[in-house]
Amino acid sequence: MHDIITQLEEKRHRAAMGGGQKRIDAQHKKGKLTARERLELLLDPGSFEEWDMFKEHRCVDFGMELAEKIPGDGVVTGYGTINGRMVFVYAQDFTVFGGALSETHAEKICKIMDHAMKVGAPVIGLNDSGGARIQEGVAALGGYAEVFQRNVMASGVIPQISMIMGPSAGGAVYSPSMTDFIFMVKDSSYMFVTGPEVVKTVTHEEVTAEELGGAVMHTTKSGVADLAFENDVEALYMLRRFFNYLPLNNREKPPVRPSNDAPDRLDYSLDTLVPDNANKPYDIKELIIKTVDDCEFFELQPSYAKNMVIGFARMEGHTVGIVANQPMVLAGCLDIKSSIKAARFVRFCDAFNIPVITFVDVPGFMPGTAQEYGGIIKHGAKLLYAYAECTVPKVTVITRKAYGGAYDVMSPKHLRGDVNFAWPSAEIAVMGAKGAVEIIFRDDKNDPVKLAAREAEYKEKFANPFVAGARGFIDDVIQPHETRKRICRSLTMLRNKKIENPWRKHGNIPL
Ligand code: HXC
Repeated sequence: MHDIITQLEEKRHRAAMGGGQKRIDAQHKKGKLTARERLELLLDPGSFEEWDMFKEHRCVDFGMELAEKIPGDGVVTGYGTINGRMVFVYAQDFTVFGGALSETHAEKICKIMDHAMKVGAPVIGLNDSGGARIQEGVAALGGYAEVFQRNVMASGVIPQISMIMGPSAGGAVYSPSMTDFIFMVKDSSYMFVTGPEVVKTVTHEEVTAEELGGAVMHTTKSGVADLAFENDVEALYMLRRFFNYLPLNNREKPPVRPSNDAPDRLDYSLDTLVPDNANKPYDIKELIIKTVDDCEFFELQPSYAKNMVIGFARMEGHTVGIVANQPMVLAGCLDIKSSIKAARFVRFCDAFNIPVITFVDVPGFMPGTAQEYGGIIKHGAKLLYAYAECTVPKVTVITRKAYGGAYDVMSPKHLRGDVNFAWPSAEIAVMGAKGAVEIIFRDDKNDPVKLAAREAEYKEKFANPFVAGARGFIDDVIQPHETRKRICRSLTMLRNKKIENPWRKHGNIPL
């Protein structure tokens, strides 16, 4: 018995040392923490229950039969808590075969994913891996596909979050890409399907790993990642904060964090937020921050498709998803990137019982060949589809422009918007007055006086919220300063909302 205990201690020590002190030092030298150090920061102290610490690879090819077998095989798996709430985790250990995924490594990940599904708890993956374990060939590929299948089955059932903290190359990108959120660490993480060497051979482009798939690129250009953090410590701290917004599964409501911020708090500074000149921009984030609990807004993708703002906040302690056009960027118009950005977010909220608040100031869809050639029709439809399909409480506030097709997309009454408000500055019309009269009074185009009169007439008729109000398309015209109060009341009224979509295997969202 004593021998076994000694052996156990030895094995635990060996597993804890991963690929050895030299490789741990190399990891630290790159500014990266080890897998276990990362889990320590992510989880509540002492809450981590590790599984499969002694699992070893079974590969006997390419010298692997002779190589030292490191218990755990390059990934630390188990479960723990974040602020007392259950979460399953895996952290790839780059010090063991570069965190490369073997058949047994994949089995460990699959095991915790299966348990997470059984008990209804989120999965967080800390990715730091050189991809498929090259010595294993198809066994490793099979392992990846087993993980992918579980990612898909878990989608919409439990939240899945990926934190990329090192390389994620080749097949390694596809598991994170199917999770709900991807976060990255600046300068030390990168994601690409093919690395710089292959790119050089095939396309003759010279590009660094950072340029090709670094955190800055993915949070500004591709939109693959939601946020980029400065280092491992900040990333894990922010991940803990982020986790607090999410429910554990799709049958639960999100957690409630009591707040002292009064639901009927008025903010008179909002009365002057919208400039008199309809073409002058203003920052929609000011409205968001002044509306939500304690001015706390967890923005996602802040540097990508900035004409659309998305993120989580709380109202009376309850998590809400915020979607808002940003007049500061491209006048807040809808384009391909912003439509996709918001659509995926709305679908996440809908899958996980998070009410959606939409702030609308949108002059329409972005015109031009770049957008049409890029398929704005199909991509814009994604957002339309997402709002129309969504059954969680939906509260919409039109602050200024709600023109054309974009009015129809941005959570209007007609797409089962529950409560739709407009500020007095709202203009709900097919298009702006100038554009409208240039089309319908084309014959007057050489008569600026007549045209100006027509424009004034059109403005008088449509540049207000009352025409929509007269039809019941908006429920009330509210003063900007009472926005928080009116939204809080609406959400309280909607707390037990229940509607269902017709049974079907699944819809066919325009992908
Ligand atoms: C086995 C690997 C490995 C891998 C790295 N290592 N990647 N072992 N399989 N995929 C080992 C190295 O041999 C080395 O072992 C240790 O990990 C650290 O690697 P280094 O190269 O020293 O580190 P670094 O310089 O930081 O470079 C990291 C790296 C590089 C960029 C990830 O190792 C690399 O390019 N690896 C190969 C990436 C790759 O092509 N993967 C396959 C993708 S294809 P020692 O013993 O020296 O410490 C794929 C298909 C899946 O994934 C498709 C599914 C759909």
